[in-house]
Amino acid sequence: MKVISTCGETHLYLKNEKYHGRTLGLVPTMGALHEGHCSLIRAAVRETEIPIVSIFVNPTQFGPDEDLDRYPRQEQGDLELCATEGVKVVFLPPADEIYPPGYRSFVEVESLGNKLCGKTRPTHFRGVTTIVNRLFHIVQPNKAYFGLKDRQQFVILRRMVKDLGWNIEMIGLPTVRESDGLALSSRNAYLTPEERKAAPLLFQALCEAKEAFECGETAPEQLRRNVISSIESDPLIKIDYVEVVEPVGLETPETVAQGDFIALAAFLGKTRLIDNLEMA
Ligand code: PAJ
Repeated sequence: MKVISTCGETHLYLKNEKYHGRTLGLVPTMGALHEGHCSLIRAAVRETEIPIVSIFVNPTQFGPDEDLDRYPRQEQGDLELCATEGVKVVFLPPADEIYPPGYRSFVEVESLGNKLCGKTRPTHFRGVTTIVNRLFHIVQPNKAYFGLKDRQQFVILRRMVKDLGWNIEMIGLPTVRESDGLALSSRNAYLTPEERKAAPLLFQALCEAKEAFECGETAPEQLRRNVISSIESDPLIKIDYVEVVEPVGLETPETVAQGDFIALAAFLGKTRLIDNLEMA
């Protein structure tokens, strides 16, 4: 496995691989890798000849009061995991390699980034699209792998790929969960034991709403209220938002149909967790 820290060397090395006809699969991450990341990495290893993982805690997607400084970093363990899983290249740049002094350019997907998580994190998705677009320039992958745990992120990136004409197959893979349903996230490590016990209620509430949908409930506001009232039964959880949306424009539909999803964010103490579930 090659570990490369500069954009130039990564680009040249991968350009050569592509020239020789090999397929490149990119898994963008911010490190602190867990089973959720691993499911993406394994898919890239299975489906492409040169699976590449990028590890970069991207400062532009964190707001001024967010957890950039305390975001978990475990480089050595991440590299070992990548090697064990069969990754061919890890791109691990220092911050000033991506954002040199004076950096001012951003990629923004209009309107989609202001909804759902964008309401409380107004600059977050602009940071995500900027870094992922940059990674696409450096790596030029055939396929890119993302988790549907961050479904809004996937919807926005898919739009960006279409709008900017990238010839990249975007692959969204299911959320990996703990046995009690809690979606795996690097931020779960911040939870106190009491908060950790309460956290699975988020997914339970989504599952109950999905059951209601399967039993014929198609009013978005009713499904939304079901989720809110389940979650509010636990005083440790403070809802940021619960919304029922369609998967292209992230608008609330008049009646809910298959493929629409319920997304939520909630605070347990200072920790903000997100989850979502597709109506199927
Ligand atoms: P990060 O949070 O490290 O996640 C990297 C990828 O792993 C994302 O596509 C995310 O959706 C996926 N992922 C995280 N938890 C998951 C889970 N429980 N099940 C399945 N997939 C999961 O998302 C980011 O980093 C950044 O925004 C990034 C795209 C790298 C841009 O900086």
